[in-house]
Amino acid sequence: MKRKIFGFSKLSKIEKIDWIIKNFFNNDISKKKILIDYWNSNKKIQSIHDEFIENSISNFYLPLGVAPNFIINGKDYILPMAIEESSVVAASSRAAKYWSTRGGFKTEVLGVEKIGHVHFIFNGQNKKIINFFKIIKDKLIESTSDLTKNMISRGGGITSISLINKSNKLKGYFQIEVGFKTANSMGANFINTCLEKIAEKLLLEAKNYDLFSKNEKKIEIIMSILSNYVPKCIVKASVSCPIRSLESESNMTKKEFCDKFIKAVKIAEIDPHRAVTNNKGIMNGIDALLIATGNDFRAVDAGIHAYASRNGQYSSLSTAWIKNEEFNFQMTIPISVGTIGGIINLHPMAKWSLDLLNNPNSNELMEILSAAGLAQNFAAIRSLITSGIQKGHMKMHLLNILNQLKATSIQKKKAINYFKKNKISFNSVSNFLKNNL
Ligand code: MEV
Repeated sequence: MKRKIFGFSKLSKIEKIDWIIKNFFNNDISKKKILIDYWNSNKKIQSIHDEFIENSISNFYLPLGVAPNFIINGKDYILPMAIEESSVVAASSRAAKYWSTRGGFKTEVLGVEKIGHVHFIFNGQNKKIINFFKIIKDKLIESTSDLTKNMISRGGGITSISLINKSNKLKGYFQIEVGFKTANSMGANFINTCLEKIAEKLLLEAKNYDLFSKNEKKIEIIMSILSNYVPKCIVKASVSCPIRSLESESNMTKKEFCDKFIKAVKIAEIDPHRAVTNNKGIMNGIDALLIATGNDFRAVDAGIHAYASRNGQYSSLSTAWIKNEEFNFQMTIPISVGTIGGIINLHPMAKWSLDLLNNPNSNELMEILSAAGLAQNFAAIRSLITSGIQKGHMKMHLLNILNQLKATSIQKKKAINYFKKNKISFNSVSNFLKNNL
């Protein structure tokens, strides 16, 4: 068996598959069939997918679900969610319905600035690079004018440029920090292209700067790259209602529910273990919507988790409190997304999802995402402090267990009925099937 190959990317799709099946699956044709079964029968759609990435051999589907009844700033939405976890869409839908009769979600974009850096090493006197930067900073921006022309006409462009001295952390290390607005695109390619141009211009200007010594002229560019940490590109989402308007939960008063909810959030604020799980729940909603709209969920996740640590300890993204007999639940998070560019215009499902959302601009999408996150967090905490998470979770997971156990459709029907009133676990479902062959 050959497990190494050079020039793999040059093989055709079927040659790639055949090579893998031969060398990693001992020529087991059933493994080839699985890949081919997942090709899209519509050749045009398949070729779009094939061209997204290198070495594409098949598709990996996620279900697309929808969560209805979201009211965000007074507007009705039904949210598209691409996710594999059984209970997430149900939880979103429940939270959306809950708040739809209590004023809905309020959201607000608090800033849209993104940043990127040219990271470089300067071997010389700090004051010389500081003076040099003052002289050339306008030229650095001008050097990008061809690249920023279109973006400026769409309301974006470079918003700031500054030199940051990091030489106390690493000898000679400086950054040129550049602020950007990227209108309705996420802007990663735009930002990185501008940064690379700025780096090029920096080197050129340094070479021609008479006050630099031979050594100082040799600025070493380490890298030019956007930051996925975007604490100035943030959005706030909140829900609130009088305590008396909350739904009655079994075994506790509305005030008790509020107090317990606030304690649960407080625990996530003070304990990183709980905070990570709390925030994971928030990301269940956000990621599902990011994927459905063709956005880069890894970028958003990285930025949000960094933001959760901004005060030196990883903490809850959400907070809750009571004021004047009113329950308040709120979250502020950084989100950098686009509604044009990337794969958004190429992936038919991403386009469909944005159509479903009535084609929001990127600020509106930030708002919808923040509402999706807060809804998910509300649903999770509500379950955790009342029935416990497993009841709803296992209810949604029942079909997965039944499918895993290869239940027939008659068995499934019977099981769904039976487990309306009985506790679901892998063992209980397995026993049920044994007794209902
Ligand atoms: C599961 O995907 C998400 C939860 O664990 C979130 C939470 O605990 O808050 C239910």
